[in-house]
Amino acid sequence: MKKTVIFIMLTAFLIGCQQEDYLANQLEKRNVQHDYKKEPEAFVPADDTEETEEKEEENQNQEENQQTDENANDSLTVIDDPNSVSLVVNKQRKLPDGFEPDDLVEADVPYHAAEGDPKRLLRKVAADALDALFVAAKEDDLDLVAVSGYRSYDRQKQIYESNVATNGQAHADKFSAKPGTSEHQTGLAMDVASAALVAVLEQSFIETDEGQWLEDHAHEHGFIIRYPEGKEDITGYSYEPWHLRYVGKEIATEIYQAQITLEEYFGLYP
Ligand code: DAL
Ligand code: ZN
Repeated sequence: MKKTVIFIMLTAFLIGCQQEDYLANQLEKRNVQHDYKKEPEAFVPADDTEETEEKEEENQNQEENQQTDENANDSLTVIDDPNSVSLVVNKQRKLPDGFEPDDLVEADVPYHAAEGDPKRLLRKVAADALDALFVAAKEDDLDLVAVSGYRSYDRQKQIYESNVATNGQAHADKFSAKPGTSEHQTGLAMDVASAALVAVLEQSFIETDEGQWLEDHAHEHGFIIRYPEGKEDITGYSYEPWHLRYVGKEIATEIYQAQITLEEYFGLYP
């Protein structure tokens, strides 16, 4: 009898420990998901959907904010020529409704995205330039990997909304464009990473040889680092050393030499 009681108590204790491990594990996963340096595309939404009343209220507020923001989007300037490689899309300038580039192709580069995933796509002119950029990097013994290129309006909407739900609107707005205002929808932007970092999009990318090399050489192939460090007030976004935007060699070189943003280049910032 005594043995049975001891056995039951021991079993209950062990089950308790296991649950604690499980909870600690879940919390650890959440902390990883909240790493402020990661681009929202890299975040995985939490899979447990049980919500407290407080959380529901928070979500309701966010939905209301999103509604307001969608209306705010109505007052943005609509870009005249979304097929121009020198277009400026940002928090003030949006793509025309339903815009989709009609010459999307895959580049001939290593990808961190499954075959057939639209994020492997870029407009033809940008894909050719990316090929040349990757060849030049390889000649310098560097291993770049393409992570995220083209995104449809709907995909950007998912990413933005998931980021708002996970991190709150203020944080999301520093890293994710609202649908209709992302360069990824133009087919002219590609996020790249160092293969050694297993394609993680973090600001620490700039500390890798690949990140440094890109900062110095991207313009030679027609790309700019679109969201530079120290220019957050102009671009509206946090520093993204991984986000390349194709603008053509001439503009890219002028922007690189003057160390300015696309907004400043086109006089869109006072
Ligand atoms: N991360 C950039 C700003 C985008 O979402 O387009
Ligand atoms: Zn990007």
